[in-house]
Amino acid sequence: MKLISKPSQELHGEIKIPGDKSISHRALICASIAEGTSKISNLQESEDVINTLNSLKQLGINIFKENGFYFVEGKGFKGLKKSEHQLFFGNSGTGIRLMSGVLAIQGFSSSLIGDESLSKRPMKRIIEPLIKMGVNISGSEEETLPLHIAPSTKIDGINYEMPVASAQVKSAILFASLGAQSETKIIEKSISRDHTERMFEYFGANITYSETETILKDTEKFISQDIEIPGDFSSSAFFIVAALISKNSDITLREVGMNPSRIALLNKLIEMGGNIQVFNNSSFGKEPIADVNVKSSVLNACEVRSDDVPNLIDELPILFIACSFAEGTSFFNEIKELKHKESDRLKAMQEGLDKMKIKNSLKGNVFCIEGMGKGYKSPNFLAETYYDHRIAMSFAIAGLNSSSSIEINTPESINTSFPEFIDMGKMLGCNFEIS
Ligand code: S3P
Repeated sequence: MKLISKPSQELHGEIKIPGDKSISHRALICASIAEGTSKISNLQESEDVINTLNSLKQLGINIFKENGFYFVEGKGFKGLKKSEHQLFFGNSGTGIRLMSGVLAIQGFSSSLIGDESLSKRPMKRIIEPLIKMGVNISGSEEETLPLHIAPSTKIDGINYEMPVASAQVKSAILFASLGAQSETKIIEKSISRDHTERMFEYFGANITYSETETILKDTEKFISQDIEIPGDFSSSAFFIVAALISKNSDITLREVGMNPSRIALLNKLIEMGGNIQVFNNSSFGKEPIADVNVKSSVLNACEVRSDDVPNLIDELPILFIACSFAEGTSFFNEIKELKHKESDRLKAMQEGLDKMKIKNSLKGNVFCIEGMGKGYKSPNFLAETYYDHRIAMSFAIAGLNSSSSIEINTPESINTSFPEFIDMGKMLGCNFEIS
């Protein structure tokens, strides 16, 4: 299957972006280990989130959908039941890493697997701190999947300085700490997303957190909650950039998550000259939300500093596209984490940018993109996506400004985070076709 993205005239309209992926995983997991029944609205119905949902069902949690809401009958921190089969997390690093923390404190063994891409991703980053806490966990010889977790006699809290800025690692530690006998303190040099901390607080945990330090103390239980999930900022990012780089466009996205640890892209695009208004500020639980209006703009190049990177890590591919249509050379510092995502995103993007005839280079730790300015038309080509949803969506947006089209290989990967992308794009005026 191929997605063909052709030049679009103008983008217009208003849409409500589906629920945030990071928060959807956390909502399902926290509800499963709470006491009582939680109700979730606007859950992201992507393959990644459904894999986590199915694993929780396999572990004995009753989850059902009624009138558009998901209901989760929680069984307490240690109330999951052994699964006779391996737990499959598909493409999702978030699903497998967070669930490793949850499974670490159960009284049974588990085996966790994923698809070809997830099977190659590094798991040492969770194995190491969990072992320090007393968790019985192991991976393959290369410290990749499959992961095996066996019951532990005693789990202690940990005082841990994070070697990489990773919300997934921080969250795995926090979930395991719910079964620990002493407090956990996590110190971060760079700020990573704090959805787990906010969700723990919402479910009643004894947690304090700042940009650099998280402390979780004796928490006996979570109490079930109603959770409303904000629109996914990372999904919104594709249409925000689409409107900025297309002619005469004016779109509004409703109820988008505005968590400060997620929106560096927005601030960067505004700095670049993007005509973006954020209004109707409100919140869903502990998470801020707002509506976002975006109009066509002339963009200037940007500089991404190393401490911006964790805050816009998932948006770097689409930011590269925005920079390709900006005036001047953009610089990105310390983006090597991009190599460890659903694909080697640096390699995949460089290949596509080369085909777009956008000059780019990696000099030491700095990646540079020479923008061609608004009105640039990319030549036609076939984008290799390495089955990575964000690579596929990034080149689909670039195709709106091509001379006749950009073809996207294996667009099925988009279902891992944003199954509605093609239809919603068409509603806004994107010229997308499937062949
Ligand atoms: C996520 C954290 C980030 C991000 C991923 C989702 C999360 O990964 O790239 O898409 O939900 O915690 P890392 O924590 O590995 O940086």
